Amino acid sequence: MFEYASKISTPAYVLEENLLRKNCELLASISEKSGAKILLALKGFAFSKSLKIVGEYLHGATCSGLWEAKFAKEFMDKEIHTFSPAFKDDEIDEIIALSNHIVFNSLNQFELYKDKVKKANKQIGLRCNVEFSVAPKEIYNPCGRFSRLGILAKDLKNADLSEINGLHFHALCEESANSLELVLKAFEKKFKPFLKHVKWVNFGGGHHITKKSYDIKKLINLCKKFSDKFGTQIYLEPGEAIGWQTGVLVASVIDIVKNEKNIAILDTSSEAHMPDTIIMPYTSEVANARILKTRNNEKISKLKKGEFAYLLGGNTCLAGDIMGEYAFKKPLKRGDKIIFLDQIHYSIVKNTTFNGVRLPNLMFLNAKNELKMIRKFDYEEFRRRN
Ligand SMILES: Cc1ncc(COP(=O)(O)O)c(C=O)c1O
Repeated sequence: MFEYASKISTPAYVLEENLLRKNCELLASISEKSGAKILLALKGFAFSKSLKIVGEYLHGATCSGLWEAKFAKEFMDKEIHTFSPAFKDDEIDEIIALSNHIVFNSLNQFELYKDKVKKANKQIGLRCNVEFSVAPKEIYNPCGRFSRLGILAKDLKNADLSEINGLHFHALCEESANSLELVLKAFEKKFKPFLKHVKWVNFGGGHHITKKSYDIKKLINLCKKFSDKFGTQIYLEPGEAIGWQTGVLVASVIDIVKNEKNIAILDTSSEAHMPDTIIMPYTSEVANARILKTRNNEKISKLKKGEFAYLLGGNTCLAGDIMGEYAFKKPLKRGDKIIFLDQIHYSIVKNTTFNGVRLPNLMFLNAKNELKMIRKFDYEEFRRRN
């Protein structure tokens, strides 16, 4: 595994076609059995090379605004659903032209743009705030107090819903089918009166469907039960579940320093290239290594006899640009490759050039085991952006 790593210029993300197809096959079978249409949420996973492949299996893409909608059109060209917390006058016409569904976050926005959407014969949806979530952290809870995301059920009561085709909610983050069941109960309790007006309901993202322990049968049953009861088409729009464990971030050791511990400095950065490891936070698994301590110094396991411990750190000025402490079977040396597992989703889409660090190249390992360069970033990228 990862034989290619020694040959590539780092840092680089490598997406594996076989793994991506495996996730897509599972999602396509769920779609077939449940009747739910599944969309790729580009916000989590917008690797241009993957879109055509995902489009072979799924119904389309869900987009956060004009640029993602353009990207979906260019690289996938299937159904496009666009939701934004607030659309802008100078973008809405192009968004409507590109999209099949437009989902509004407020009744103000709906009033402002509904005539344009109707005139273009496109579907109109409203995002609902179900006021219930089991999200692991407040920053990932779109349904918490003071949330700007979605319309409260009490505010829909006096609205004229005759122009609405569908409802949308998003309340989950890396969640199980049991969590979806709870959210659906809350949604039904608050929004049942409005369901008679609509043809479709979008259950948002955050379904961790491709994770091994996910209860797929339950998801299928929940979707079927809901669409039978209310006569609605269901949409699911996962991002993470599509990219989950389909690729890696490869970096090189560029120096080893010692300050009580051995510290390997890499040509990547947790801050710039693995931001969710800081925000979530979580500690990325590394190939051929074990996590000893998280990036926040919490102990996970003990160093065993014959192993070598290293703190892995990035090449930026941020003191906290640390990936964690890991046990390796051999001492590390300059030039060794470090392979961070599962760094394809919510990484590429969030990358920065903080400290002028090089953006990782985007590479693709096709089903014939051929490694292709998809995007090579150089100084121009930094210059153009600054
Ligand atoms: C409205 C909406 N849909 C879909 C998603 C995708 O979520 P995930 O990548 O966790 O499946 C998100 C993520 O924030 C979202 O806000």
